[in-house]
Amino acid sequence: MNEDQLSIADTTSDRPTSARAYGWLLGGKDNYEVDRRFIRAQLEHHPAGLDITRQNRLFLYRAVRYLTVEAGIRQFVDMGCGLPTDANVHQVAREFAPDARVVYVDIDPVVLAHGRALLAGDASTAVITADMRDQDAVLAHPDVERLIDFSEPVAALFLSVGHHLRDADGPSASCAP
Ligand SMILES: C[S@@+](CC[C@H](N)C(=O)[O-])C[C@H]1O[C@@H](n2cnc3c(N)ncnc32)[C@H](O)[C@@H]1O
Repeated sequence: MNEDQLSIADTTSDRPTSARAYGWLLGGKDNYEVDRRFIRAQLEHHPAGLDITRQNRLFLYRAVRYLTVEAGIRQFVDMGCGLPTDANVHQVAREFAPDARVVYVDIDPVVLAHGRALLAGDASTAVITADMRDQDAVLAHPDVERLIDFSEPVAALFLSVGHHLRDADGPSASCAP
């Protein structure tokens, strides 16, 4: 399977998507056989992929803990957040800072659907569908304006998403403050 066959966001079950396939690697249940088949094929060539995925997630926990405890950050924008898993950014941050506010951003609308279910009734966290390469759209989103105070420090997380940015996307500009 090549890059063009792996979809970033495809609401059908015809092609694997990044969010569903990665979610399955993390033990998630919201995926289709096409996602699992894609991952099995990848692991045949690159068996360490499973460990790397889980290590990436452990890095997320360490980074959010550091940002919350050591850096005093209370606001997070998680770009390319993926499907909810067992410990998401707001849950990790709130272990140390109960007042932490989080906006999850993903281009795949399936993430919004599952995120909303997880976050129902949580006024300090939102999930939005947006392209992280379009900073203006992210910054202008009503949930970002509602939850994020840009006069205070904000952590923008870009975790395990670099492979979705091509040179033509200008990754240094996409991720710049
Ligand atoms: C490999 S997963 C990483 C999930 C999570 N960040 C983590 O570290 O566990 C990549 C996610 O980035 C999302 N994504 C890819 N391109 C994107 C874009 N241009 N804007 C927003 N999200 C994007 C995909 O839909 C997918 O959910």
